[in-house]
Amino acid sequence: MRAIEIRNKYLNYFKAHGHKIIPSSPLIPENDPSVLFNTAGMQPLVPYLLGEPHPEGKRLTDYQKCVRTNDIDEVGDNRHLTYFEMLGNWSLGDYFKEESIKMSFEFLTKELQIPVEKLSVTVFAGDEDCPRDEFSAKCWKDAGILDGHIYYYGKDDNWWIAGETGPCGPDTEMFYDTGKPACSENCQPSCDCGKYVEIWNNVFMEYFKDEKGYSKLKQQNVDTGLGLERMTMLLQGKETPFDTELFKPVMDKLFELQKIDIIESRRIIAEHLRSSMMIIADGGRPSNLDRGYVLRRLIRRMIRQMNKLQIDLNELSTLIDLNVDNLSEMYPELEKNRENIKQVIIEEKDKFVKTLSHGEREFEKEVNKLKAQGKDIIEGKIVFRLYDTYGFPPEVTKDLATENGMKISMEEFDKLFKEHQEKSRAGSEQKFKGGLASTGEMETKYHTATHLLNAALKQVLGSHVHQRGSNITAERLRFDFSHDAKMTDEEKKQTEDLVNKWIKEAIPVEKLEMKKDEAIAMGAEAMFIEKYGDVVSVYKIGDVSLELCGGPHVQNTSELGVFKIKKEESSSSGVRRIKAVLIA
Ligand code: SER
Repeated sequence: MRAIEIRNKYLNYFKAHGHKIIPSSPLIPENDPSVLFNTAGMQPLVPYLLGEPHPEGKRLTDYQKCVRTNDIDEVGDNRHLTYFEMLGNWSLGDYFKEESIKMSFEFLTKELQIPVEKLSVTVFAGDEDCPRDEFSAKCWKDAGILDGHIYYYGKDDNWWIAGETGPCGPDTEMFYDTGKPACSENCQPSCDCGKYVEIWNNVFMEYFKDEKGYSKLKQQNVDTGLGLERMTMLLQGKETPFDTELFKPVMDKLFELQKIDIIESRRIIAEHLRSSMMIIADGGRPSNLDRGYVLRRLIRRMIRQMNKLQIDLNELSTLIDLNVDNLSEMYPELEKNRENIKQVIIEEKDKFVKTLSHGEREFEKEVNKLKAQGKDIIEGKIVFRLYDTYGFPPEVTKDLATENGMKISMEEFDKLFKEHQEKSRAGSEQKFKGGLASTGEMETKYHTATHLLNAALKQVLGSHVHQRGSNITAERLRFDFSHDAKMTDEEKKQTEDLVNKWIKEAIPVEKLEMKKDEAIAMGAEAMFIEKYGDVVSVYKIGDVSLELCGGPHVQNTSELGVFKIKKEESSSSGVRRIKAVLIA
């Protein structure tokens, strides 16, 4: 069965069972700057899972285009993908466990004709938050799952939540036995030896988790997800998704074009090409930020692998055409965007080729210096500088080093890279020096919003505006500033619009450390300059704002939501006060 046939069977089966077929949302979430890409079918449906009525009713089904990049470095093995399609069906407060399980069983065994011996299922084992799901186990047994094919696991395996907070619940997962020999006596679905492959996940979403813990949702939902590429591979008896018709034409072409034979590289090229094309067709463009950066990385990784196989980069256009021809039946948007996709990828390729040659020059300079000193090891900090400043990938540095008879200290690079990552992570976890560890997520957002407000007021009212006071709670910000007239409605609106524009632009918030004098020379905003020591931290928000501050701040303005001024009033003579909120 081809992938598109599986997709159609799925949608039609659920349609016949009272579900409305809804279209896939674009990969890039609409009106949601806080998420990079849709990563699951449930994501565009969150408001409805929380209780808002869906215009199409309580039973829905769709295919959802998804991109997940947490495992990007694993792509090249026999299973990881960054782009995939998730088939799903939803009950928004309608049917629950029994009917959901019945339908899944029937679809797998009747529609897809999977022999029941090949199926195993897992259910939630129970803990202090939620009882053992014996009911689901019974439903599976009644449906026809064989004795000994039902397993109980804890939260690590059988609980689903997108991220840290939100709608969630116990799930039941279905596994396909590939027929490979068991790796040990204990081999079971939770084992990742490859014998069992997870094929479908039904989440019984009846809880909501926030900082305080779990509570019950207004309604009992079902949210299911079935990975199309994986199912296609299994039903076709293939070892990897790259052997199915989804990738085969491109894989074959790469085999024909390559001068060096590395299967992992061919997979990376084929996989990243498809992801990039899907992202571009949905409006994505390469940049140094967030989504754009993910796309840039995908394209650049692909180019590097093409270089590795010594494939002429001019062949990109052929590869794109081939993929459009192959995949347009499933994704008509590819045909519509054929030329656009080519243009974006080829432009990015040209830029990367320049980066590479630039980096290579820097690399040569470094190597000449080292050689003159009689050294044959390139220190990690040089590898890191090439990476951080020139965008020069460490793998390329390593290859070039080998060609030059040099070694590189990857360990030191890894250490520096980790430190760099941890710094950003510490940022997002709001662990800051200066006793601010208890500052919550909302307060952190308001800190950053305050900087944006300060900058916006300067633009709207004039450079005489300076901060005179600030007070932040989890509910609102309060900002006092020098200005001696009541703000007009128009001025308030302009200020709001500017702040929201910057939020939309997803500007990264950078923390810089520098000497106080330097900061002042750079024109950094500071309320009580004398209060700070010699070395100060300055928060830079793109070209918008530069302010001395102890933090904490969000990492990117896109995290803030929508900014709204609630009140503007006099605070004291020549000082106005604004109260404003962020709406999630
Ligand atoms: N949300 C669940 C998943 O991603 C089921 O759709 O697996």
